[in-house]
Amino acid sequence: IPVEEFDLVIFGGTGDLARRKILPGLFRRFLSGQMPAGSRIIGAARSDIDSDGYRQMIRDAISEFGGAEKSETGRLNDFIAQLHYLRVDAKGEAGWKELHELIRFKVVNAFYFSVAPSLFGDLAERLHTFKIADNDSRVVVEKPFGRDLVSAQELNDTLAEHFDETQIYRIDHYLGKETVQNLMAVRFGNMLFEPLWNNHYVDHIQITVAETVGVGGRGAYYDKSGAMRDMVQNHLMQLLCLIAMEAPSQFDADAVRDEKLKVIRALQPIDPHHIVRGQYDVNGDEPSYREDAENPKSFTESFIALRCEIANWRWAGVPFYLRTGKKLKARTSEIAVVFKDIGHSIFPGDEKRHRNILAIQLQPNEGMQLQVTIKEPGPGGMRLIDVPLDMTFAEALGPDADDTDAYERLIMDVIRGNQTLFMRGDEVEAAWAWTDPIIEGWKARNDVPKLYDQGSGGPEDAMALMHREERRWREIK
Ligand code: BG6
Repeated sequence: IPVEEFDLVIFGGTGDLARRKILPGLFRRFLSGQMPAGSRIIGAARSDIDSDGYRQMIRDAISEFGGAEKSETGRLNDFIAQLHYLRVDAKGEAGWKELHELIRFKVVNAFYFSVAPSLFGDLAERLHTFKIADNDSRVVVEKPFGRDLVSAQELNDTLAEHFDETQIYRIDHYLGKETVQNLMAVRFGNMLFEPLWNNHYVDHIQITVAETVGVGGRGAYYDKSGAMRDMVQNHLMQLLCLIAMEAPSQFDADAVRDEKLKVIRALQPIDPHHIVRGQYDVNGDEPSYREDAENPKSFTESFIALRCEIANWRWAGVPFYLRTGKKLKARTSEIAVVFKDIGHSIFPGDEKRHRNILAIQLQPNEGMQLQVTIKEPGPGGMRLIDVPLDMTFAEALGPDADDTDAYERLIMDVIRGNQTLFMRGDEVEAAWAWTDPIIEGWKARNDVPKLYDQGSGGPEDAMALMHREERRWREIK
């Protein structure tokens, strides 16, 4: 379904995110017919190039980072023709008058701040001073949205000076992933799961986001963040919210975000024993975290595993185990809802603990498995085994069922004016309010992350976090 005609200005239009994600994503939307003719994408940055130079840069980026098949060269030319470039100085005067002249108010206009957060204020102010944005304009901002509660509040205040909350689109690209949205469809579109989705039936929930990449190349940013700020405060907490929230009364932005906020506010402070931090070790020729981060004394974590609890009627007493890390065994993201044991087995000799597990794979192979217990086939009597009812979406729905990337979906939502998959200011602040004391605690205790082997599942202590409660992590594979 095509969106309305738009003008999209990308500040930081020559940057990494624009070239890798935003523009290739827009090209794919263009190919699918979603981007109306007449829409314009305006790259704005400090580089001294003209529109032709910009078009060439983006043509190269699209060839490199996906999207352009040979057969689509003609279509690529049409897309590239919709690009413009302006040299704009975020802190000065250059380019702003020209931008004012270029922007059309009769179409949807959106401003993507793909720049350091320290520039948000300057950009927002100039968009107003030069009368480039109006009350219908939208601004899109990227993570990191602050590095603690105070800085997030400052950013929110800065944006609020010039824009209403309904105009602000804070991106967490995990919310744009197909299966992440599917979480809501599975929970609230089926009768089967929701009655069991509580502390009477669920033993615990595991959320894993494992990566194989290290931090080489972005060590300067990462070393100041660590896994807690880079992944847990945003992506993992968003997953936690979607899996744990109450059913919103309708699928609309504020109804969904109100429910997510309640989950974050109900999170209990964490006991330091319930957190394990790790840092990947050197592995033959593969550099260690400290080498990648170019900081030989770094105590930043590239892995984190934690156990938290949500204090409300639905979840009291149910542990949620979260883990994420770099240079692990496999790239895989999964949420597993592990149900309680049956209370009593009627089958003689069956002492094994049988548990139903609903595992939802977010990436790379999107799908769901439900582990159920059945009779082992054959004449051996009533012997029970656990088997997965497997539904890999590519198999069930065809490999091309959806190849939309998170960014392209989210940008189209901005143009449509749908904020459901974007974080509201109070949500981000609540997430920092929960993570801040944890990070401060590490600092106060001079906490040192445990080394772990590259290609492993993380430090041993992360296993122990589960083992001491007679549970275990699902295998990363
Ligand atoms: C980003 C983090 O937000 O998400 C990166 O800054 C991380 O460190 C990335 O690698 C993971 O995203 P995805 O979509 O590859 O799972």
